Amino acid sequence: MPVQYTSRQLSERVEIESHKRPNRFRRRTWWAAFWLSVACVVWLAYEGAHGDYHIFEGGDVAHVHRMFENDCAKCHTTWAPLERALHLDFSHKVYSVDNKACLACHPGSVHHTNQIPAHDVLSCAECHLEHKGNHSLVSVGDNVCLRCHAHIETSDNEKSFVTSVREFGRQDGHPEFAFARLLDSKSPDTPGIGKKHEVLKLLKFDEKAGWQDRANIRFNHSAHLKSERDESGQLVYGLIGQDQRLGKERFTDLSQTCHACHEKDAQGRYMLPIRFEQHCQKCHPLLFDNAKFPGLQVPHERPEVVRGFLTDNYTLTALRDPASVGEAKPVRSIPGRKSRPVLSKDQVGWVEEQLKSAEIQTLRHTHAMFGPEAKGGCAYCHTVNNQDQPGAWEIVPPNIPDRWEPHAIFSHQAHQMMNCVECHGAVGESKDTGDVMLPKMELCGKCHSRHPEQPPAGAPLRYFGASNDCVECHVYHDHGEDRFVGTLDSLLGDSKANPDAILKDKNTN
Ligand code: HEC
Ligand code: HEC
Ligand code: HEC
Ligand code: HEC
Ligand code: HEC
Ligand code: HEC
Ligand code: HEC
Ligand code: HEC
Ligand code: HEC
Ligand code: HEC
Repeated sequence: MPVQYTSRQLSERVEIESHKRPNRFRRRTWWAAFWLSVACVVWLAYEGAHGDYHIFEGGDVAHVHRMFENDCAKCHTTWAPLERALHLDFSHKVYSVDNKACLACHPGSVHHTNQIPAHDVLSCAECHLEHKGNHSLVSVGDNVCLRCHAHIETSDNEKSFVTSVREFGRQDGHPEFAFARLLDSKSPDTPGIGKKHEVLKLLKFDEKAGWQDRANIRFNHSAHLKSERDESGQLVYGLIGQDQRLGKERFTDLSQTCHACHEKDAQGRYMLPIRFEQHCQKCHPLLFDNAKFPGLQVPHERPEVVRGFLTDNYTLTALRDPASVGEAKPVRSIPGRKSRPVLSKDQVGWVEEQLKSAEIQTLRHTHAMFGPEAKGGCAYCHTVNNQDQPGAWEIVPPNIPDRWEPHAIFSHQAHQMMNCVECHGAVGESKDTGDVMLPKMELCGKCHSRHPEQPPAGAPLRYFGASNDCVECHVYHDHGEDRFVGTLDSLLGDSKANPDAILKDKNTN
């Protein structure tokens, strides 16, 4: 039969003061903790004393800064964590790097002088995140841009750009590109486009045609590129040319070779400017007098230079071959001096006569005179002032724009998987320089968006697109000065790597 205990007897069996009794296990745990802490402090002190501060970091700095990573004070000049703890302020408005430290190496240029908060009030560290290992310093999240751009405010109340942006590729999330807004407006008013907007320099307003490409040069894409459908129904573009063997007009497929005139720059970003000598001259030669000077062309230069060239050529002809001028007088020479050829009055008259007609030819000649090549007089392509006054005509500078979206960046190389006409489809029908044949935003949004709001009928819902981060297409700093300009002499000793230092040395020696 089990023994029955009263509750009192039970409580007496429990030793209330048991935790005060020495216990071996507990004691050892305490000592272990103590010695481990000491070891940590010693370790930290040891590493510190040996100059290795790596151990105090949360993660490596970005690889561009790794060279001076251990020199924490290059960036850290404040005791922000301590300050935050003392003030019990965890809003993280105090940064543990001072902009001044960054500015010592990067004189970081402002975004816009009228921004609120001003450039020097924003911490560099807000956008350039450190201690994240191989994370790129320049992959900046949209949140920092939208902080201002969701509802822009400016210190001077001037607003040249659209005031609200949310997300690219989303309905009403980003403004239509400026040139397209102008083209659509059809009136000289420029709603939402302030005075400082560079697009106003790329387009000019014409009463009849509306907003137009500003270039002062005649060019007709469709005359140079014929469009036809091939067997599969695809549009192909070709450069018209005579096929020698067949003896008739044919066109070569140029759907991938707009490069005949448009070549990418070294980074593959934009198309290099058109050059007459490279892209036009072989078909539009600048002949002026094929009878006397077969095949000879005037230089593609300012009118004075052209006039000088013509004067030289006709004068030399008159001197070398007086018979051609219609008189065969011996050339007079001044006694006592080495004989120097001098033009007679009649010869001068002849040269002037020739010059007049040659200048007119140079300006307006047509291919009927010279053979199968295309027309080539200056006025065929250029707007020429004082066209009817030989000796006084002037070429209006062509002024062909070389950038169309100056407030964004673009890369043709990154889109090499696409055909030119997928973006510049209007080229085939363009007959006039005034046409602008650039893609509008809707096309870009087809790829550069995360959640297409309405996938095309039948197409699967797509969750991943090309990046639509603001920094994919925009830069923040007004470039020029924000690259590295300092020296890393703390590591390299008294550095001679600084060109200024070398120059100074040279000058003092
Ligand atoms: C290239 C500049 C740079 C260098 C070099 C650098 N850091 Fe940093 N560090 C930063 C930036 C930027 C931050 C983020 C600041 C913030 O958010 O307040 C940061 C944050 C920190 C923080 C967190 C502080 C806080 O305010 O929360 C610690 C700790 C830290 N760094 C330690 C180090 C140590 C130790 C070294 C040297 C071994 C070092 N850093 C070298 C730029 C640098
Ligand atoms: C001791 C000089 C030095 C200091 C201080 C310094 N940097 Fe740099 N930084 C460099 C060098 C060197 C490069 C690499 C060369 C370059 O890209 O021009 C670089 C590159 C960069 C880049 C370009 C990264 C890229 O991927 O192209 C950014 C952004 C940058 N630094 C921001 C900062 C910020 C923010 C600070 C302050 C926390 C800072 N730097 C402090 C020397 C410095
Ligand atoms: C501190 C506020 C502020 C922040 C942050 C900011 N912007 Fe701006 N941004 C402005 C102001 C102000 C203007 C000029 C507005 C005007 O004059 O109409 C501007 C203009 C622009 C423009 C048009 C003109 C131009 O220079 O190209 C673009 C594009 C732009 N910002 C992109 C960005 C991107 C991308 C980011 C994020 C990396 C960003 N901005 C962050 C204030 C800011
Ligand atoms: C492969 C030869 C070729 C090249 C290269 C070429 N053209 Fe032409 N161009 C022609 C031919 C052929 C015509 C006549 C087409 C016609 O009458 O339909 C023509 C016509 C023109 C016209 C008149 C169009 C019109 O509307 O009547 C202009 C202006 C012109 N070219 C300018 C240029 C310029 C500027 C360049 C260089 C960027 C250039 N061409 C390069 C062959 C060429
Ligand atoms: C087939 C078309 C064509 C003909 C014909 C032509 N040009 Fe040009 N010209 C161009 C193009 C395209 C440019 C812009 C690209 C360049 O500078 O090479 C240009 C640029 C110029 C410029 C540079 C203007 C500036 O300010 O940049 C001058 C000067 C000039 N041409 C003079 C002439 C003269 C003089 C003639 C006649 C002898 C002539 N051109 C005939 C197409 C032509
Ligand atoms: C993804 C669409 C896209 C494709 C594909 C494309 N372009 Fe462009 N193109 C653009 C945009 C956007 C601009 C305006 C860039 C700027 O100036 O800011 C442009 C500008 C141009 C310009 C004006 C000069 C310049 O660089 O700004 C020419 C010429 C041009 N493209 C020719 C071509 C040719 C030739 C091809 C085929 C090799 C091509 N493009 C393929 C989108 C495209
Ligand atoms: C014979 C030379 C020639 C060829 C070939 C040619 N272009 Fe052009 N292109 C020009 C000239 C000259 C200009 C500048 C005059 C102007 O602004 O229209 C120009 C301008 C452009 C522009 C920017 C100006 C605007 O108004 O949009 C685009 C985009 C362009 N071309 C696309 C193309 C594409 C795409 C092809 C191939 C299908 C092509 N071009 C083939 C000579 C050529
Ligand atoms: C067919 C899909 C497609 C279309 C349409 C498209 N893009 Fe892209 N774009 C891409 C892809 C994919 C990349 C990344 C390619 C890479 O990084 O090499 C890219 C990259 C870019 C970049 C970054 C380039 C760099 O390396 O700096 C810019 C800027 C850009 N696109 C702008 C545009 C603009 C503006 C348009 C509209 C005129 C456009 N894209 C239309 C697919 C597209
Ligand atoms: C796929 C490329 C792309 C992306 C992503 C993108 N933009 Fe743009 N953005 C452009 C182009 C192209 C323009 C026209 C630039 C011009 O007209 O010079 C533009 C124009 C602007 C302008 C000036 C508008 C005006 O009034 O002319 C602002 C501001 C702007 N973008 C802000 C942003 C912000 C903020 C983000 C991120 C939420 C962003 N953009 C994302 C391509 C892009
Ligand atoms: C609002 C966000 C933002 C702030 C604040 C900011 N930057 Fe940047 N920075 C960027 C972006 C986005 C890029 C990459 C695109 C570009 O070059 O504009 C960049 C690029 C850079 C580069 C590399 C330039 C190059 O040519 O590749 C340097 C260096 C730099 N920033 C230094 C600084 C310094 C120093 C400060 C503080 C005075 C600072 N940044 C403040 C957003 C910012």
